[in-house]
Amino acid sequence: MNASHAPIATQPAPSNAVAALLKRKPQFFIGGDWVEPIGADRIPVLDPATGKQIAVVADAGAQDVDRAVAAARAALEKGPWRHMKPVERQALIWKLSDLVEKHTDELAELESLNNGKTKFMATVVDLAGTRDYFRYMAGWATKLTAETFETSIQGPPGVNFHTYTRREPAGVVAQIVPWNFPIAMAAWKLGPALATGCTCVFKPAEQTPLTALRLADLIAEAGFPPGVVNVLTGLGESTGAAMVAHPGVDKIAFTGSTTVGKLINKSATDTLKRVSLELGGKSPVIIFPDADLDAAVGGAANAVFFNSGQVCCAGTRLFVHRKAFDRVVEGVSAAARAIRLGPGLDPATEMGPLVSREQQERVLQYIESGVRDGATVLTGGMAPNAPGYYVTPTVLADVRSDMRVVREEIFGPVLVAQRFDDIEEVAAMANDTPYGLAASVWSSNVSTVQRIVPQIKAGTVWVNCHNFIDPAMPFGGFKQSGFGREHGRAVLDLYTELKSVCVAY
Ligand code: NAI
Ligand code: MG
Repeated sequence: MNASHAPIATQPAPSNAVAALLKRKPQFFIGGDWVEPIGADRIPVLDPATGKQIAVVADAGAQDVDRAVAAARAALEKGPWRHMKPVERQALIWKLSDLVEKHTDELAELESLNNGKTKFMATVVDLAGTRDYFRYMAGWATKLTAETFETSIQGPPGVNFHTYTRREPAGVVAQIVPWNFPIAMAAWKLGPALATGCTCVFKPAEQTPLTALRLADLIAEAGFPPGVVNVLTGLGESTGAAMVAHPGVDKIAFTGSTTVGKLINKSATDTLKRVSLELGGKSPVIIFPDADLDAAVGGAANAVFFNSGQVCCAGTRLFVHRKAFDRVVEGVSAAARAIRLGPGLDPATEMGPLVSREQQERVLQYIESGVRDGATVLTGGMAPNAPGYYVTPTVLADVRSDMRVVREEIFGPVLVAQRFDDIEEVAAMANDTPYGLAASVWSSNVSTVQRIVPQIKAGTVWVNCHNFIDPAMPFGGFKQSGFGREHGRAVLDLYTELKSVCVAY
């Protein structure tokens, strides 16, 4: 365990532009306007690097949700949106991407301040990703097609049929996202909904609502018709649950914990809403001895420590072939020790705090449970003496497959390392989890790669890389990591209903 670490720097003051945004009144974006909340409940928004309050937002109650759903319904059925040509929708989404690009610096700073991640990462990953996601999805607006087909059985004598399908918007979509990639998650949700002609009630996580509110300004500026996108802030148990239960919502798109995903799926049963769920993970990183081991060490460290480990597809279970185990695990531990923790707005920072005190405590409790169960802490495992919600990057060895640290999603910078001897053994170990979101395989032997890839039960398998996400590449889980695939052509299925049309002539 590393008892010492560099002292944590002080969070620099925000820019004037961001300081002004922090003073925003607690309001919702409904029907194209900023409106006052009906109820008086408020939620403080904190800087995780200091624990200090930086802003306040409103907790939307059932009546606020009613208003937002009504606005989305009106925009879907009565407004100009449904008559807009695909090329107009495409142009609007592209315009939004241009506005995101124009405001990158301010949005990245806001994201860093609210989430804890570094402003540098927020710029090159979250904001660049948000811009490009909207651009990619803008293109789909003009490429939605369905099928024309021959009927296959004999109809009544003398009657012919012309049969085809239409893709129609799924309708009013409720979208609920977590706090790890706040604005990028907004793009993942809003992009395909707008491309397909749906209307949205969007809720960011209560911990990280600030960039979504700023994005609503940009949605208005881009010129989307009123009510096409509505943004509510609020707690999961109040706002989120009311959105899920609302009879005026046709579809729910959720990213977050498996626990809440299950609740949502149950609740949606009453109204048979369409549900897509992108949930937790415990993704394996599998390193064979013939891999480029330097690249694998760096890749494995990045796979688990990127975004302070708060990534649904983080590579949190490291499996290294016995022959390479010591070298790789020592390398990853050394990389962990070298990471400089600090506040997101300090340019020298490499890893920020976790998002909240709750998350910091959860992660530290997991590490303690691992130690109690007999794991060895090779590095990290502690909270620096600082007001922010930091956890030092942690590598645990001597773990067994029944330990909670091996089985459960920790959602922090914590890696568990295990040895293996052959492909079949490691495939079984990798699959010994209720999750199935992602995995990575590191090898220079094409036969090894081709043999193991089909055996891994996961929605994404990276080879010699990890955490690379592209808007064209379907993303989603096997097993309890959820269902439905976001991105690519696949996401269009989530946001459209297929209508068969049969014309007799
Ligand atoms: P969470 O799943 O409770 O929160 C995610 C979103 O769901 C937030 O917007 C929240 O307001 C909303 N929500 C919560 N309860 C709801 C309900 N009953 N109905 C509707 N919406 C609801 O996640 P939380 O509590 O912040 O984190 C707990 C654990 O969940 C983490 O330690 C991590 O393991 C996992 N998690 C996984 C994520 C992923 O991307 N797969 C993202 C965030 C958390
Ligand atoms: Mg929760």
